[in-house]
Amino acid sequence: MAANYDSLIRRAVPRYDEMIERLVSHLPVDALRILELGCGTGNLTLRLLEQFPSARIVTVDAAPEMTSLAAARARERGWGARLECLTARFEDLSFAPGSFDLVASCMSLHHVKDKRPLYRGINAWLRPGGWLCFADQLLGATPEIQSEFWRAWLAFCREPGHCTEEEIASLEAHAAAHDHYEPLTSHFRMLEEAGFATMDCVWRNHMYAVVVGGHQ
Ligand SMILES: C[S@@+](CC[C@H](N)C(=O)[O-])C[C@H]1O[C@@H](n2cnc3c(N)ncnc32)[C@H](O)[C@@H]1O
Repeated sequence: MAANYDSLIRRAVPRYDEMIERLVSHLPVDALRILELGCGTGNLTLRLLEQFPSARIVTVDAAPEMTSLAAARARERGWGARLECLTARFEDLSFAPGSFDLVASCMSLHHVKDKRPLYRGINAWLRPGGWLCFADQLLGATPEIQSEFWRAWLAFCREPGHCTEEEIASLEAHAAAHDHYEPLTSHFRMLEEAGFATMDCVWRNHMYAVVVGGHQ
């Protein structure tokens, strides 16, 4: 399952590894308490454990097979003691105020329909001066921009060695059923309403973006 997932995400998300590296390069260097939203098979989780050797990481995913796999991969590398894996929905999370220095996420927040309560929660869970940093798929600002993004994504999927037409149909059906994309300006507005003081988009490739928000 992991091999399939990790192969598909790289064949269906243009410049996936570059996006993760750009996210990691914008994380605050002194983070010791990190919350990750949506570990999946643990691609970002393992990078966080590697990048922050003194940090403790709590990672959350609604799918128990994903949290077990991320935990197993961390244990294999000797990092298991620094990782706590919670099987839960982001919408149901609750932590004490100021619990984390950093909240990070990759390709997971677009699964949340109404991001406003989650952004308010994240702002409360961060310590003053903490950061939310995420990579995700966004909506174009106009229908024309969005259709150009989608056209470019389909062209990437159809490159030799990438996705079959069956996989593309399945990805499009999954997106229609489960994904809730927002334009960058909406993310900024929701982050500001949630109490974030600083916001930027530090990397962009068509639909895909790395966004950072600083707690005041
Ligand atoms: C596309 S995967 C990304 C995983 C990983 N971060 C990566 O880059 O490969 C999205 C993950 O978010 C999880 N997820 C989706 N909606 C969720 C929710 N509402 N609460 C918790 N986990 C959720 C899914 O189970 C899945 O593992």
